[in-house]
Amino acid sequence: MVAVNRNIKTAEPTNIVIFGVTGDLSKRKLIPALVRMLNCGLVHDDSKIVGVVNNRTEEVWIELVREGMQEYSPEIVKSEKKWKKFLSRLIMVPGDLGDEATFERLAEALVEIDGKKNAMFYCAIPPDWYGKVTKGLESAGLAKEDEGYRRLVIEKPFGHNLESARELNKELQKVFDEKQIYRIDHYLGKESVQNLLVYRFANSIMEPLWNRNYIDHIQISASETIGIEYRAKYYEKSGALRDMIQSHLMQMMTLVAMEPPVEFSADAVRDEKMKVLRAIRSIKPEQIKIQTVSAQYASGTVEGEAAQAYVAEEFVPPESTTETFSAVRFYIDNWRWQGVPFILWSGKRMKARASEVMIRFRKPPFNLFDSHASVPAANALVFRLQPDGGVVLRLNAKKPGLTTDNEPMIMRAPYANNTEDVADAYEILMHDVLTGDGTLFSRADEVETSWAIVEPILNEWKKRLSITRYRSGSWDIPEMDELTRDCVGGWHKPLAQHE
Ligand code: BG6
Repeated sequence: MVAVNRNIKTAEPTNIVIFGVTGDLSKRKLIPALVRMLNCGLVHDDSKIVGVVNNRTEEVWIELVREGMQEYSPEIVKSEKKWKKFLSRLIMVPGDLGDEATFERLAEALVEIDGKKNAMFYCAIPPDWYGKVTKGLESAGLAKEDEGYRRLVIEKPFGHNLESARELNKELQKVFDEKQIYRIDHYLGKESVQNLLVYRFANSIMEPLWNRNYIDHIQISASETIGIEYRAKYYEKSGALRDMIQSHLMQMMTLVAMEPPVEFSADAVRDEKMKVLRAIRSIKPEQIKIQTVSAQYASGTVEGEAAQAYVAEEFVPPESTTETFSAVRFYIDNWRWQGVPFILWSGKRMKARASEVMIRFRKPPFNLFDSHASVPAANALVFRLQPDGGVVLRLNAKKPGLTTDNEPMIMRAPYANNTEDVADAYEILMHDVLTGDGTLFSRADEVETSWAIVEPILNEWKKRLSITRYRSGSWDIPEMDELTRDCVGGWHKPLAQHE
């Protein structure tokens, strides 16, 4: 059970409408999160979960929900009382999202649910349906906030380039006010990612060091051991740069690099994040080779299991040059960060799974202790975001014995002793939607600016005829050593959990 702070805002009764309620996201994340939130009072007891379902009877839908819960929330299915209580909250509205009548039916159903005027519309559907859904909601009068609030939740990708992101924003903003739109970046819902802000702004020892005078460079990474799983059709059009860097990692970069906001409120935080994005130096086409790396996984062995090459995955054409690994070296042109490289990288089928922010400090100026030994290694502060969240500080200490030689000393502090206290990203984010807090959601201008930053890279990569390959389950990407050659300590590869 998640630890719930007594000061936490309680959500008002709300109709939680899910489009795409029979899909994978609903099954794996949304329904289990809602169940937990209902159980610990984060969702008001008088709330209903309304599923818009096409081509299935209510019986079949309920059976699907039950199967999903058996896997992800078995404790509810096992107890007849709990299952019945949960069932009493479920309402199905039949219909196709392409048909306006579905939205009329939805509006009628919402009126029938007594006294609950608030609604959250969760689009767990492919992005090309967002436009149809917003139009449908508008035509059925469901977007207007006459009596209760109306909030729209959408999942990434928010477009596939700058132009499509602008079009999408225009389409959504024709119907909803920007304050009603919640663009989910599930990385921002991770407690360990929010913790970055607490580490920065609740500790006075950080701020004096947090700048170009003490920091050599920063690496922000999401290293995965999984492949693309069953998502070839999406991934072929996306690639690692769009899938991870333009979204999750650039969002994390803004949290690491931003100035202290005037208060912890949605616009104050997002204004500061925006300033970082605006200060990112644009990468000229002739620098793309020097400042970026792209590669694709070949076959290999990952965590002891044989893994096939990306091009052998189902629905991937054998000539595909889509990158499954990408890295970009950014610079932020402002007083705090001038000249400090920010290296963002992410890859699938890597040797270890971990997401980290590594702050590498400058080297000590010289070695005071032993003229024959080299300068002690530079300090590093690693915020380990997952799988085992925590902080690692790398210091130098005296070697035991009659010597003044030094050796690395690693201080580790896990984030939470009890992982059950850690809330799931979807619980945090849905609770924020229900209480109207947009701090952890991407605003339209952030999304468009981050697309504008990566667009020159996408345009250049579109022209490539071949791509470097790396062995699955390895760090065999020599271009990364090149990219980080002048960075103290070079490419920082995370350790696996058990190492
Ligand atoms: C998603 C990407 O947004 O994030 C996936 O589309 C990726 O490709 C996933 O695997 C990583 O999220 P997490 O929470 O598992 O680190």
